[in-house]
Amino acid sequence: MRSLSYVILFCTVCSIVCWNEGYFLGCYSNIPNVRTNIPSYSGQNNCIKACGSRYYRYAIPDTTCSCGNYEGEQVSNTTCNECQDCKDKEGILDIYATGNLLPGPPRNLRISNVTDTSLKISWSEPESFVELTSYKIRAKLLKTFSTFPPMSPEWVYSNKTFQTDIITLHPSSIYNLSITSVSPDGEGAAIYSDVKTEIGEPDNPPSPPELLSNDGSQIKIKMMAVTNNNGPVSAYRIVVVNNDVKESFNKDNLMSYDAAKRMGLTYYTAAELNPIEITKPFIVGDGRSYGGFYNPQLDPNVNYNIILGVVSRMGNETKICYSVPFSDTLVFKFSDEEGENSALIVVLSVAIGLLSCVLVASVIGFIILRNRVTNRRQRLSDNQELTLQGPMIEVENNGYIPEEEHVPINHYRSLRQKLQTFLPSQIKIDTSNLLGTGKFGRVNRANILNGDNLTPIAAYTIQDKKMGQETRKSMLQELDLLIKTGKHDNIIQLLGTCETPQTVIVALELVTTNLKEFLLGSRETLPERFSSLSEYQALDTAMQIAQGMAHLEHSKILHKQLCARSILLSNGVPKISGYGLAQYHSHNKIPDYTRWTAIEVFRGQPHNPKSDVWSFACLLWEICALGGTPYASVSNTNEIPEKIMRGLRLPQLQYFSEDLYQVMLDCWQIDTDERPKFEQLLEMLMALQENTFVPYLSFNLMANFQYEPFYPDIELAVRPNY
Ligand SMILES: *[C@@H]1O[C@H](CO)[C@@H](O)[C@H](O)[C@H]1NC(C)=O
Ligand SMILES: *[C@@H]1O[C@H](CO)[C@@H](O)[C@H](O)[C@H]1NC(C)=O
Ligand SMILES: *[C@@H]1O[C@H](CO)[C@@H](O)[C@H](O)[C@H]1NC(C)=O
Ligand SMILES: *[C@@H]1O[C@H](CO)[C@@H](O)[C@H](O)[C@H]1NC(C)=O
Ligand SMILES: *[C@@H]1O[C@H](CO)[C@@H](O)[C@H](O)[C@H]1NC(C)=O
Repeated sequence: MRSLSYVILFCTVCSIVCWNEGYFLGCYSNIPNVRTNIPSYSGQNNCIKACGSRYYRYAIPDTTCSCGNYEGEQVSNTTCNECQDCKDKEGILDIYATGNLLPGPPRNLRISNVTDTSLKISWSEPESFVELTSYKIRAKLLKTFSTFPPMSPEWVYSNKTFQTDIITLHPSSIYNLSITSVSPDGEGAAIYSDVKTEIGEPDNPPSPPELLSNDGSQIKIKMMAVTNNNGPVSAYRIVVVNNDVKESFNKDNLMSYDAAKRMGLTYYTAAELNPIEITKPFIVGDGRSYGGFYNPQLDPNVNYNIILGVVSRMGNETKICYSVPFSDTLVFKFSDEEGENSALIVVLSVAIGLLSCVLVASVIGFIILRNRVTNRRQRLSDNQELTLQGPMIEVENNGYIPEEEHVPINHYRSLRQKLQTFLPSQIKIDTSNLLGTGKFGRVNRANILNGDNLTPIAAYTIQDKKMGQETRKSMLQELDLLIKTGKHDNIIQLLGTCETPQTVIVALELVTTNLKEFLLGSRETLPERFSSLSEYQALDTAMQIAQGMAHLEHSKILHKQLCARSILLSNGVPKISGYGLAQYHSHNKIPDYTRWTAIEVFRGQPHNPKSDVWSFACLLWEICALGGTPYASVSNTNEIPEKIMRGLRLPQLQYFSEDLYQVMLDCWQIDTDERPKFEQLLEMLMALQENTFVPYLSFNLMANFQYEPFYPDIELAVRPNY
């Protein structure tokens, strides 16, 4: 019994193997679509092999060798020679199966316009196939500088798509980009190519150097190495800025000391150091040359600011990123030094005297200037035409709804009563894993140790001791916003704080998926569809955000920067972020919110809860447009305010309903009283969702479908100098 089943098994295995290696089918006539002729072949086996390796189903070894995917009509199951009845039939040929059922690789793979995060790709149909359902694109990461492994994304496109933009790649990385065609019988062979994305600007600005000693003409500093996820760390640069001159520092004008002197600039590059030298203390002003830059003696009568830059080079591209001065820049004050000899003390006193004069002068100057600015602002709000000049800067950005003008400034003691506090030993910060940079410091991935439990968090490290009074006040106000928010499923949560002698660490809920990137990543054309996101998911996400916003409004908090980039996704649940202290960005991706800003704000009026409603509708549009850029046709963001005041609104897209668009239009009413509140918005969206007769949104492919364009550059702010 058992041996019989072995025999059966053996035969099954044999027939599969035999099938795979090609076998004789019979004598056929009317064979259609003979696709190719294999030149100079010898023997039928070679013909079968040649056709199989070209992904054809059938081989026809005659005087020439042809391959095809359709067999025609069977005349006989013997060869045409052995067939008795076939002698007088015409066009009969012996056909062999190659054993291949899968489509061949797509052809003409073309990759163009490669940037640091995107590229264009095009391809054409495979040479050999019977039926295709879709194309699958994979970007497999082969090499990267990133310490966190970026994803190896995949997309599926319909069998009618032959080009697309790939937009979520990582800079300075090598990907194996491949395309396969998928048929009902399975996935076919791949065509592939390695692509190297361009170098990105270093994502991790160095910390400002630390002062070790200062003897007037020489300043000894200590520096910290940085990690860079966007490219190699090739060198460090030390930049000296004369801090007494109120000349604005422009990193694009940086040059060597001599060249700067000739140009009359008061800042220069003093040294370029090899990365291995960075851990050693460095003396600014030692009169030597470093990496082609002269490091001259300093003037003892000048206050200097020293900036550290990290240089990343790949091929002929160089990107440099300088230490971010957090509110209070590190100024090497001459008076910091404890002078021991009396001459020094005399010099010191004179210097301090001079400085005080300068200080008094600048305070007076500041007061005059401020009065002028205030006057100008008043004039501006009298005259709307003038406010067209640029986006709003006039608004005091404290995020509170105006009725609550007098916000008590909480001090740490009262903070401690409201918040969980952690011991420094409980928090383990992963310094090589920077999530972003905020106004007051860096935000790193970290873990909180609670008993035996490790909870991953986002740790915002605030250099509290280096902060000026005003900066601390605004920091506490922003922290207070998060405290006031309390807990809500759709809002990023403040977990607690931790104080160390030098810093305050604010622990925030760790969520790393951003709605904007999620939406862009969902752009793929499956058979009949153009997004992997469902319509229900899209509207549901918007509704949950509306719930979170309703909660913020109840807590009397204005968001002011609502857009898809401000929303994080934790297992599909949207969490509102990007307000108060919960604001941090990869340093070269600071969003410009102009395209989401309400009309009254352009007119110089303060933000109010209905301004957030306006922004919410832009966000709703952004969700429906799968991450498309609002007003993409207006590439100059400075023109947006004027165009909106003249009536420009985001358009209704082909694939969302009149009713859904009407909800957006309601939110874009000029009169804020006519805009719905978030609670009403929720009801309106729910009504759309419950009305099963009219689909509110459809991600089904339609003729001439095109994605809404996405232009990362015009959604990002032009960065301030250094
Ligand atoms: C071949 O065809 C004949 C009739 O056309 C049939 O009787 C015979 O069973 C077939 N043989 C095989 C192996 O299929
Ligand atoms: C590639 O980029 C250039 C310049 O940015 C542009 O002119 C060209 O149209 C782009 N090519 C494609 C295929 O989009
Ligand atoms: C593409 O897919 C459609 C249906 O999904 C099918 O009717 C059509 O034949 C396919 N085209 C090719 C070239 O396979
Ligand atoms: C790239 O991917 C294709 C398909 O997945 C694979 O066949 C090929 O070996 C890969 N090439 C490299 C260099 O990894
Ligand atoms: C950099 O080098 C590439 C070829 O390696 C060249 O195509 C490109 O024009 C160069 N760019 C600059 C700015 O020199």
